[in-house]
Amino acid sequence: MPDTLICSYMCGIVGYIGRRQAYPILIGGLHRLEYRGYDSAGVALIGDDGALNVYKTRGKVEALEHFAASKDLSGCVGIAHTRWATHGEPNDVNAHPHVSQSGDIAIIHNGTIENYHVLKEALLAHGYSFRSETDTEVLVQLIDYIGQTNGCSLFEAVQEATRQIVGAYAIAVIDRKEPDRIVAARRSSPLVIGIGDGEYFLASDATPIVEYTDRVVYLNDDEIAVLECGKPLHVVNTKANAESRIDIQRLKMSISELEKGGYPHFMLKEIFEQPKTVGDCISGRVAADGRSVVLSGLVENRERFMAAGRIIIVACGTSWHAGLIGKQLIEEFCRIPVDVEYASEFRYRNPVVHPDDILIAISQSGETADTLAALELAKSKGAFVFGICNVVGASIPRATDSGCYIHVGPEIGVASTKAFTGQVTVLAMMALALGRMKGTVDDDKFTRVACQLRDMPSLISKVLKLDGRIRELSKIFTYAHNFLYLGRGYNYPTALEGALKLKEISYIHAEGYPAAEMKHGPIALIDNEMPTVVIATADSIYDKTVSNIQQVKARGGRVMAIVTEGDTTASEIADYAIEIPEVCECLSPLLTSIPLQLLAYYIAVNKGRDVDQPRNLAKSVTVE
Ligand code: M6R
Repeated sequence: MPDTLICSYMCGIVGYIGRRQAYPILIGGLHRLEYRGYDSAGVALIGDDGALNVYKTRGKVEALEHFAASKDLSGCVGIAHTRWATHGEPNDVNAHPHVSQSGDIAIIHNGTIENYHVLKEALLAHGYSFRSETDTEVLVQLIDYIGQTNGCSLFEAVQEATRQIVGAYAIAVIDRKEPDRIVAARRSSPLVIGIGDGEYFLASDATPIVEYTDRVVYLNDDEIAVLECGKPLHVVNTKANAESRIDIQRLKMSISELEKGGYPHFMLKEIFEQPKTVGDCISGRVAADGRSVVLSGLVENRERFMAAGRIIIVACGTSWHAGLIGKQLIEEFCRIPVDVEYASEFRYRNPVVHPDDILIAISQSGETADTLAALELAKSKGAFVFGICNVVGASIPRATDSGCYIHVGPEIGVASTKAFTGQVTVLAMMALALGRMKGTVDDDKFTRVACQLRDMPSLISKVLKLDGRIRELSKIFTYAHNFLYLGRGYNYPTALEGALKLKEISYIHAEGYPAAEMKHGPIALIDNEMPTVVIATADSIYDKTVSNIQQVKARGGRVMAIVTEGDTTASEIADYAIEIPEVCECLSPLLTSIPLQLLAYYIAVNKGRDVDQPRNLAKSVTVE
């Protein structure tokens, strides 16, 4: 693949056809999808005069609004796009929509066309020329070429083009000559159709749709949909060459979940939502008296879980950190060996997977490409695959044999917060429920942990009261260039997570380490300039962690410690201490992670960073 290719990997796409003016709906939708990418944005409308008007620009959706403000924005049919560039600089030319050489057809695309090069060569030979370096422009020219050569409809041309392309795509296409329809198709990239009253909405996820309708259809791989004003939805499966059954689902999302609700950033709102989101996650699952924990995904697959020889957890980023905590929980309560793998590593080696293995894929978005590929690999090797996801109906939950949603509502800030605590909560419930099934956890311990899970929302509320203190402390640390985060046991992954939060939103280098590993190298970095954040809550290895704090202090380091209420030792040695309520060791990450989220947040705010949309990042990483 030449270096010049500009792929359209991780993007948000939105479309509208109906009786209303499309532009405000499209722009509103782009704002909702901006978490998926914010390098460039564009819109294509079939204007009231029948012209195809395309406006696009580098930058965020706001830049597009400025750019388009003085233009003809009329029209009841349109498509729009917000992009996260993976190859090459984002610029106006490479922004979507892309328009065919004839000037009739416009396309938006999320995904990548792997055989674009061969197709481009063929189209060049047929007299087509290209303005951009994108794979998407090749696709729109191909549709144009097929339509012109065969004299066929837009639907037929898109159908034939999807047969010729290799790769992942969610596309929406409009044609000035067929102004009454949008044709949409998907393979391996998500696409949701909202069904209104004589109108249709289209988007990468349901967030742009929810304010107009709660009736949605999730397109499946290899399906093509034709959206026509006032006509029934028409969906065809190209592989099976057959009409698809339309499965209309009801959205459970509410608009308030998609707004900042008075908070300056989604991240802060999502941090403060955690008492509620953890409450929603355990609701109906943990009994009020703590004597039972029921997860339907486990109950329905009891035999499979009872027979599991090993569990493999695959995930990326924050979800991988939750997986590391899950390993400790499941091994402690269920005595089943658990391996935790980066999905991106697992998928590209030849891992040993036995038919009695269970693979658990953890993903907030349910769309992470590496996690999806890892689970498909394990499935192909005969493993039972189970998902722990947040976004209902996303690709991962659809590809798994069974699963468990974390039910924390839409997470919009790029830095994952409430999803992490939701994932750890589900893993704790799984460990308890499976431990009970296997008889590997005694009743007293089960009830003690289940009762603390039940009480977790109020414990988290108590931790959130530390907000003001953490905001003050953040000022002391804002100008550090490096941070070290240390933790042991259940809180080693929390240290990793704290460091990741700081890195991604403040752009300060931070490393997470098992506290005892510090003396094997990182200790050389310790000086007065580099703060060390230590999780030193009262657990079975508290004394050891205290020794690690002493080692840092002895070398002139500054320490901020997260300790248990009433602590006297660690808090005395450390320069600053944050006290959290006492909780059992295995659930402590649900509390210790919260001051670390707040610390990262306030440091990023102090530095004037774009907290919800940090540079170079996107929320759903649908790229390899
Ligand atoms: O949607 P997923 O949970 O699969 O996403 C995995 C990572 O991309 C994600 O956790 C990422 O590391 C976050 N930005 C961390 O805050």
